[in-house]
Amino acid sequence: MCGIIGYVGKREALPIILDGLHRLEYRGYDSAGVAIVGTKGAGPNAEGGRVKTSRAVGKVAMLASSCAGKTLDGTAGIGHTRWATHGKPAEKNTHPHADCTKQFYIVHNGIIENHEELREELKKQKHVFKSETDSEVIAHLLEDAYKETPVLEQAVQSTLRKLRGTYGLAVVSSYEPEKIVTARMGAPIVLGLGEGENFVASDASPLLSHTRTVLYLEDGEMAVVTPTTHTIVTLDNKAVERGTETIEWDADRMQKGGFPHFTLKEIMEGPEVIENTLRGRLITEDGLAKLGGLQSISEKLREAKHIIIVACGTAFHAARVGEYMLEEYAGIPVEVEFASEFRYRKPVLDEHTIVIAVSQSGETADTLEAIREAKRKGATTLGIVNVVGSTIARETDAGIFNHAGPEISVLSTKAYISQLVVLALLTLTLGRERELSLTMGKKIAEALQELPKKIATILKQEKEIKKLAKKYAKYEHMLYLGRKYNFATAYEGALKVKEASYIHAEGCGAGEMKHGFIAMIDKEFPTVAIAPEDSVYDKMLSNIQEIKARSGRVLAIATEGDTRIGKLADDVFYIPKTIEMLSPILAVVPLQLFAYYLTLERKLDPDRPRNLAKSVTVE
Ligand code: G6P
Repeated sequence: MCGIIGYVGKREALPIILDGLHRLEYRGYDSAGVAIVGTKGAGPNAEGGRVKTSRAVGKVAMLASSCAGKTLDGTAGIGHTRWATHGKPAEKNTHPHADCTKQFYIVHNGIIENHEELREELKKQKHVFKSETDSEVIAHLLEDAYKETPVLEQAVQSTLRKLRGTYGLAVVSSYEPEKIVTARMGAPIVLGLGEGENFVASDASPLLSHTRTVLYLEDGEMAVVTPTTHTIVTLDNKAVERGTETIEWDADRMQKGGFPHFTLKEIMEGPEVIENTLRGRLITEDGLAKLGGLQSISEKLREAKHIIIVACGTAFHAARVGEYMLEEYAGIPVEVEFASEFRYRKPVLDEHTIVIAVSQSGETADTLEAIREAKRKGATTLGIVNVVGSTIARETDAGIFNHAGPEISVLSTKAYISQLVVLALLTLTLGRERELSLTMGKKIAEALQELPKKIATILKQEKEIKKLAKKYAKYEHMLYLGRKYNFATAYEGALKVKEASYIHAEGCGAGEMKHGFIAMIDKEFPTVAIAPEDSVYDKMLSNIQEIKARSGRVLAIATEGDTRIGKLADDVFYIPKTIEMLSPILAVVPLQLFAYYLTLERKLDPDRPRNLAKSVTVE
């Protein structure tokens, strides 16, 4: 969702901020803007001391061209990519927003829940609002607060005390040109520390080409950043000492590396991703997984009687596969729940419950709140997270990192397969402490190790999938069918298609087909049937027959060497054989590629699906 970048140092701020905004594009946005503080003398009336802005609806490239015609010089500034919540995408609603005197500029991620009452009060005091956003109240509150206490951080502090809701915030002012004040409540803020220059951002991606030394703010904290200093305090002004962290991802991994889209690049990274997720974690001869991040809760895991997995979107589908793995091989009851539901109902938890959050970004608002709720209720929390340093990674009692590397594409692909691999590793760990035999443990470990090669063979058949996409791109609707382990694959395959190609695709548990979905089937409504040779293969064949009997076209995902399915389905894509519990990891890859090529066939940009955000940081 919205992205923030701020710079204060000795270099010209504008190119750094525009570059940062480009790197934040992956989060999803509809408009972008910058505010640059002139530093030739302080104060609103000083030469060059004013704040100059540029804002544009659409891509960062549009903003860059609108900046080209203006003088936006200065060595401090803030920028923002906006994903509309309050007020439609329009220039007037694009951040940065200013107060009436145009001396305070703010960029804001999150939602100010009491913005309406604040706006009414401010209007009574003759403040004039230019936008329909909830965020603009912050700038006007600052104007008033600064009159009372003319020190920027103090004015920000007293403003924040009046706000209810969530914010990641960055503020600049012409009164104090070499300073950015930033604060966090529910929306992440990271500081990047350089030599004679410092940065503020909503995630580390725009910082990596400048520095790897970062520092994350916690909720309820505020930081004051100048070219050479950074200080952190709480909202009630207590000093905070926090060490820095080093980011291991480098900027190169965040580029397309010769691929036309991040989506394709990330699908193609599959084999390498699995190797990285498995690295150093398997003890094949003992049928075990070694997960260092679980050490602190090993006792709790041994005594666990119940697991709840909370997640959203693609991560939710990974969790559903995890449920089947954990129940079958570790014998622990598992429930999977949308984080957004879990946080508002009254789940029954106790000290023997482990609540697992699966989240690529580690910042999804609902997943984070679900974890906080679980902690309040006394459960042990565990994060399966890709982004190191993210809020969920930091707030859970223990964790397993995916090591999938940065995922830029809004469509989660490589993170999904790495989530499945992590869940398989967790199954091995918990299973071997319970009823999983050494023989089966070894079998799973060996099968995991073979996955990278098997994925590579699927990826080599990219052209075949491209041909299939050409055939199917004309349809407006599709049904995705799967059973047991590939029940979730059906939902994930359909989600990928919806997200990027806007073809209406429905996931369906194959057993449920006769309870409604079959009414939709005709020659214009094809089915993608995920039918590897597993314990429910024969049932899937019956489903395919039932669809064919109603003139439905079928594209099947089947196991290499299967001689029966080709006689029934119109098209078949073959995947290598693996053990049943790992088959979703292989079955999803052709579906990811299929969604990618359907999107291209429809002349759409898979990296920039409309209305979607990479990381949903508001509920
Ligand atoms: C958004 C993204 C999805 C992602 C979901 C959960 O909807 O577009 O790709 O699966 O959020 O995100 P998380 O970062 O928690 O895995």
